[in-house]
Amino acid sequence: MMRITRGDFEDLHRVINRRGTWSAKWETLPPEHISLSVAEMEFACAPAIRVAIEKAAARGIYSYTEVFPDFASACTSWFARRHGTEFGEESVVFVPRIVEATAMICAHMLPAGAKVITLSPAYDPIMEVVRRCGCQVTEPSMFYTEGTWHIPFDELATILPDADLFILTNPHNPTGRAFTQEELERLSELLAKSSCLVLSDDIHCDILRAGRRWLPLARYADAKLRTRLITALSPSKSFNMAGLEASALIVPDHRLRARIREGLRAAGFHNPNYFAIPAAIAAWTQCEEWLNTTLAYIDNNMEAFVPRFGALFAREKAVIPDATYLFWCDTRRLGAATAAEVCAGAGVHPSYGKGFGPEWHEYLRFNLAAPQSLLDTALQRCEATVQKLR
Ligand SMILES: Cc1ncc(COP(=O)(O)O)c(C=O)c1O
Repeated sequence: MMRITRGDFEDLHRVINRRGTWSAKWETLPPEHISLSVAEMEFACAPAIRVAIEKAAARGIYSYTEVFPDFASACTSWFARRHGTEFGEESVVFVPRIVEATAMICAHMLPAGAKVITLSPAYDPIMEVVRRCGCQVTEPSMFYTEGTWHIPFDELATILPDADLFILTNPHNPTGRAFTQEELERLSELLAKSSCLVLSDDIHCDILRAGRRWLPLARYADAKLRTRLITALSPSKSFNMAGLEASALIVPDHRLRARIREGLRAAGFHNPNYFAIPAAIAAWTQCEEWLNTTLAYIDNNMEAFVPRFGALFAREKAVIPDATYLFWCDTRRLGAATAAEVCAGAGVHPSYGKGFGPEWHEYLRFNLAAPQSLLDTALQRCEATVQKLR
């Protein structure tokens, strides 16, 4: 683990009251309750992002904006520098949100009643828009053995040939798997035999444990598969700026890119949010040190809190995820109903597993991107509630 002095963590230790900010994560909760749900951090953004926004705000005219080449060059230079992943600037397409881009793909680029496949458990807002666009969804389940989550390759092999779209999430939310070269090669081989579009949602790719790597599916795709491949990237999770709505689709094939641009226009996407572009450029060009410090803080949180949340709720040995700041915890030590009672009694709000598919009702997802004192309070309250229920 990276060694960081206490001073570096000072800003991250600070608990920020987010009530009164129209927060989706906090606003509806009673005053003393603690939210460990929505995938965003309880940390203030890097100073460079705040300066970029303050400068833009100070102009006082919040008008329509346009995407210029500096967005694509900030994006490509980040991924080359940070991950050793090169893609051409011409392949970058600005989209505000990945959920919206997914809806656009389903509504404007797939046949009616299209067959869409993704792995379960799956991030629900994405699958909700897929279903609402009239697609038929099949979700083969990942399975857990030997301390980790696995892709059900055999099931995928039988259903992919019939699919119109395959959605991968890498790193995976909620299991936190960052897929290996071997897994991605195997997946690419299967996808090469199908003819479906492929959307790799890599929004969590910067949030890695020390020593882990993000490998994009694009690296293992052959030339034919690359003509059908879209990779979704964003500074929103990495730099805690999801509310600013700046993301990028990486689309190496020019024909597919043209179809995407057509679809975006048909869906009414043009002119990003006034603050989106300056914030994204600041994030990708000036905030690497902030991210390093924040990742080290999250690593510490994982080491400190995964075993404790696990000991309270889980029957499986709690394993620190490869990536994301999310801990996917089974509740079979207590039972799902008692676990829910504990959270309710403690006033602690994780994300409930059934939101990721009904078969996952025995899981909770805890968001550990928060000051240690907040996590400690949440955990102590859960521990005290378990004692009371005994
Ligand atoms: C896997 C995944 N994709 C997409 C999103 C949301 O992306 P956006 O806010 O850009 O729609 C999330 C947010 O938690 C997520 O976990």
